[in-house]
Amino acid sequence: MCGIVGYVGSEQAGPILLDGLSKLEYRGYDSAGIAVRNDETGEFQIVKAKGRLHELYIKTDGGRTTKGTCGIGHTRWATHGEATEINAHPHYSDDKNVVGVHNGIIENYQELKEKLTRKGYSFYSETDTEVVIKLIDYYYKKYLGTPVDAINHTLVRIRGAYSLAVMFKEYPGEIYVARKDAPLVVGRADGASLCGSDVSPMLKFTRTVYYIDDLQLGKLTKDGVTFYNLDGDEIEIEPKTVNWDAEAVEKCGFEHFMMKEIHEQPKAITETLNAYIKDGVFDLSAAGIEDDKLKTYQRIYIVACGSAYHVGVAAKYVFEKMAHVPVEIDIASEFRYRDPILMKDSLFVVISQSGETADSLAALRLVKEKNIDTLAVVNVTGSSIAREADYVMYTYAGPEIAVATTKAYSCQLINMYLLSMAFARAKGLTSADELDKLIKALYALPGQINEIIGDKERIQWFASQFSTSQDIFFIGRGIDYAIGLEGSLKTKEISYIHSEAYAAGELKHGTISLIDKGTLVISVATQDALYEKTVSNIVEVKSRGAYLMGITNSGNYNIENTVDFVVYVPRTEQYFTTSLAIVPLQLLAYYISLARGLDVDKPRNLAKSVTVE
Ligand code: AGP
Repeated sequence: MCGIVGYVGSEQAGPILLDGLSKLEYRGYDSAGIAVRNDETGEFQIVKAKGRLHELYIKTDGGRTTKGTCGIGHTRWATHGEATEINAHPHYSDDKNVVGVHNGIIENYQELKEKLTRKGYSFYSETDTEVVIKLIDYYYKKYLGTPVDAINHTLVRIRGAYSLAVMFKEYPGEIYVARKDAPLVVGRADGASLCGSDVSPMLKFTRTVYYIDDLQLGKLTKDGVTFYNLDGDEIEIEPKTVNWDAEAVEKCGFEHFMMKEIHEQPKAITETLNAYIKDGVFDLSAAGIEDDKLKTYQRIYIVACGSAYHVGVAAKYVFEKMAHVPVEIDIASEFRYRDPILMKDSLFVVISQSGETADSLAALRLVKEKNIDTLAVVNVTGSSIAREADYVMYTYAGPEIAVATTKAYSCQLINMYLLSMAFARAKGLTSADELDKLIKALYALPGQINEIIGDKERIQWFASQFSTSQDIFFIGRGIDYAIGLEGSLKTKEISYIHSEAYAAGELKHGTISLIDKGTLVISVATQDALYEKTVSNIVEVKSRGAYLMGITNSGNYNIENTVDFVVYVPRTEQYFTTSLAIVPLQLLAYYISLARGLDVDKPRNLAKSVTVE
């Protein structure tokens, strides 16, 4: 959702802010703006544009029309008020003394707006952000204090989730930041300080970052960064080193981030495996998880959203079969409001690429209140979910920019396999030989994925035949159903084609009536034990006129008797087939989107990181 950048240093801020915003485009937005404080006049130059960042780029000549070495920028994903230039950030106080940007939602903004109106303030936009900026201005003037005092007074009054970056006309060369339940990272470079909704805008300058906590405040100047608590006392925050490099947020010759990230999967999986497997032995102590502790858990709850939830669906089959642990899985936005009955001797697993998804974070907090152990499977270091869970099992996918997740999803699967293997080992359900075999199979996955990607032109050809489809159905049983769920989500989010995934056996309970002559049905059949059952379901839709694409393991050649187009994936252990069978579906979604001329990396209405519920 919204993206924030800030820069103060010796260079011109405008071009740096524009470049920084381009690194946050993936988060989703519909307008953008920057504010730069003119070093000589002290005036803020605020420029905003509706639509793509390119509009702002043209308006400001790449940021060069603004003059000054201190500024903030923002990409807005409309919540309060339409996507217009007026509603775009930065927002400012009536006398332009305070200028700021905001990510998140202020729940009590109406009440605060009324209060400020009574005090003589007027409002030019429909946003909650303008209210916050004017509230800061109000306290700044009322108490004649410092920016830190004014912001702290404001933080006490506002409710909701937010991150803020604010400048004051009377405090040249200073940017103030604060957050609660929304991401904000501070970076420190040689002669410059930066802030961002994540580290990607600052990777060109530094890898030294500070993760500020809820209701903490930061002051950024050219010479350093200072942090404060809600009382205004200075506090220490330890710097952390980010191990992502600047190239990771560039397309590096690929037309789209999504295709780059599909190709990065083998490397990302290897790095994730290497984090937990040393000299052929896997060990989750890097995540603080000991086998002795795992033995005590009688069940697992997995909660997540979107693709991360689909990882959970696949993992349920793996955990129950391999480790004999009952798994309950839920969508975070449902889980948090259904008063779940949770058993004490359980492990709660939350899966999230960004580590900032509002519903997943809320679910985690709810479970923590009930004193149940929590484990986060997260990609972004220092994110809220990573910081709040008892244990963190990081994925090592590197920054994922395309809205449609691919490599983070693949790494989440790896972590869930490893966790399941750890459970099986802790419960004495698997021998050392069996574990060795599984580890070898895991290390074979990157090469096997490369093989699948190597055949991508065939999938591109198929995608071009079906890019005008009205509906696409995915069917499968067991793990293959979980693969279908993710294949279907990939398709609909970037191709805008209606798509559904069904457990193959469920079709005849209603959905089969939708199958008509030529309807594309994609059947996934990688589970040997369920293969024949799935083939029977394929035959049923085939005889209703469906056009069949099949995904199955190499060697299952008799599928050609039934389906019209087959993609064979290399054989792996039954538990790990999701990691292979998903790749042709990622490619298919990509090529359909491309053939339809859509914005593959930034599909309409979607945000990469959903920080509001
Ligand atoms: C998938 O391609 C989507 N981008 C989306 O479903 C995503 O997986 C979901 O929003 C969860 O995000 P998270 O992993 O950052 O929590």
